[in-house]
Formats: sequence, structure tokens, C-alpha cells
Amino acid sequence: MRFLSPPNCGALKLILALCYQHSRAHYMRLRQGAKGTKYGKEDILPLDMKGIWEDMELCTKLGLAKSIGVSNFGVKKLSELMQNAIITPALVQVEMNAAWSQENLRKFCKEKGIHVSAWSPLGANGAVWGSLAVMDSPILKDIAVKKDKSVAQVALRWIIEEGATPIVKSFNSERMRQNIEIFDWELSESDAEKIKEIPQHRGFKGERFVSEFGPFKTLEDLWE
Ligand SMILES: NC(=O)c1ccc[n+]([C@@H]2O[C@H](COP(=O)([O-])OP(=O)(O)OC[C@H]3O[C@@H](n4cnc5c(N)ncnc54)[C@H](OP(=O)(O)O)[C@@H]3O)[C@@H](O)[C@H]2O)c1
Repeated sequence: MRFLSPPNCGALKLILALCYQHSRAHYMRLRQGAKGTKYGKEDILPLDMKGIWEDMELCTKLGLAKSIGVSNFGVKKLSELMQNAIITPALVQVEMNAAWSQENLRKFCKEKGIHVSAWSPLGANGAVWGSLAVMDSPILKDIAVKKDKSVAQVALRWIIEEGATPIVKSFNSERMRQNIEIFDWELSESDAEKIKEIPQHRGFKGERFVSEFGPFKTLEDLWE
């Protein structure tokens, strides 16, 4: 389904919001009328990403967006999108932290010139999908003590040094301040090597997006 035709850009804000919401929502959409998170498996429908990307490209052509990107796309979904795309996504926003380092995806993105933005950079402690895998990591704690920094600062600095951009969230002004004080020091090569040893696991599994009726029959389909 196409949303936008060149002469009629009246609903542009809505379309941009939809594009963002849809791409956040893992390449799928919900049947009209499905509500909140209480939808049934049969409400999960495929999304016309090709058509949506064309409309997003049109937004840049019309000067309405500077850069366009996606969220929660893996290598396969990015490759499919790029097969038809005129504009390569500027950015992909995915879960990334020292305990879920996204090595394969980042390698692909580096080759294609796609910037990676890291959500849940501290492991989202307190969120339903979150854990203490980052904040309680003995490896990060050791480095933090050695550097006289907090674990959060080491975790965020690691993401910057990997060439990605963390989007960290805090409601606490002191922690917000701390989280941006990561630009005038660096990790050593041996710190980076140690960080590679942190056990890896995805925090947000996304089981509720998997359905025999929808585009993703398995979790592998969802994230590939
Ligand atoms: N594109 C997507 O699909 C997607 C999915 C999930 C999240 N996101 C976005 O990603 C951003 C951040 O992710 P997130 O909230 O999931 O995880 P996060 O930033 O890894 O973790 C947030 C948690 O860390 C705590 N925190 C922040 N700074 C800290 C510090 N210096 N020391 C100790 N604790 C600290 C916060 O508590 P306090 O508030 O008490 O400091 C909060 O409990 C959000 O803006 C969110 O919207 C995007």
C-alpha cells in the first residue's frame, strides 16, 4: 500500500510517524482495529516495506526529511530493502550493548555505509526485556574501577569506540550528565579485548511478533 503521492503531502506527519512506527514494529503491521499490545496472532500482517521506503525516499526528494533510516532490521531485511532502494538507509537503530554486540550486523553496515544507533545501550535494566547483563558485568566493573569511571560510562564509551551511537535513557539529571562525560578519555586495546569476552544474549526477544499467520514464523525470521 502506498501512502503518498507527490501532489498530496497533507498527511505527511502521519506518514512519517507511521513509517517510524512500522519500521520499529519489525517489518509488520497490525490489522486495523487491533489494540495496544493485546492483539492476537492473527492480527499480525506483513508490511509493504518497499512501498513505504519509496515514500520515505520521496520525503527526502521533497526536502521534507534530511535522512531516512530504519529500526530493528537485520542483514537480510536491510539487503532486501536495498535491492530496490535508491537511497541507502542512513541509519539502523537496533539493540546493541556490550552484552549484545551485533558484530555481524555492524560489519555489514560498515561495508554499506549505514550508521548504527544502539538502543538499550546499558541493557535496559528495569524494562520488561532488560537485564543487569551490562550494569553487573564483572568485566565492565573492573574496567570502570581502573579508569575511575562508572560502569555506564565504560559501556557507553565502548559503543562510541565501536563506531556506533548510543541512545541512552535516564530520568535522573546526575546520571544524564554522567552519560555524556565520555568524550575526553578512551578505553585501551586490552579493555576492548576484555569486553569481547562478555557473554552475549539478546534482551528483547520479540516472541509476540512471531505468528504462523504473519511474516515471521520463527524468531530467526524476525531478526534476520
Ligand atoms: N527502536 C527501538 O525499537 C527501541 C527499543 C527500545 C528502546 N528504544 C529507545 O532506546 C532508548 C534507551 O533504551 P532503554 O531505555 O531501553 O535502555 P537503557 O538506556 O540501556 O537503560 C535505561 C535504564 O538505565 C538507567 N540508567 C541510565 N543511565 C544510567 C547510569 N549512568 N547509571 C545507572 N543507571 C543508568 C535508567 O535509570 P534512571 O532513569 O533511573 O537513570 C534506566 O533504568 C530509549 O530512548 C528508547 O526509546 C528504542
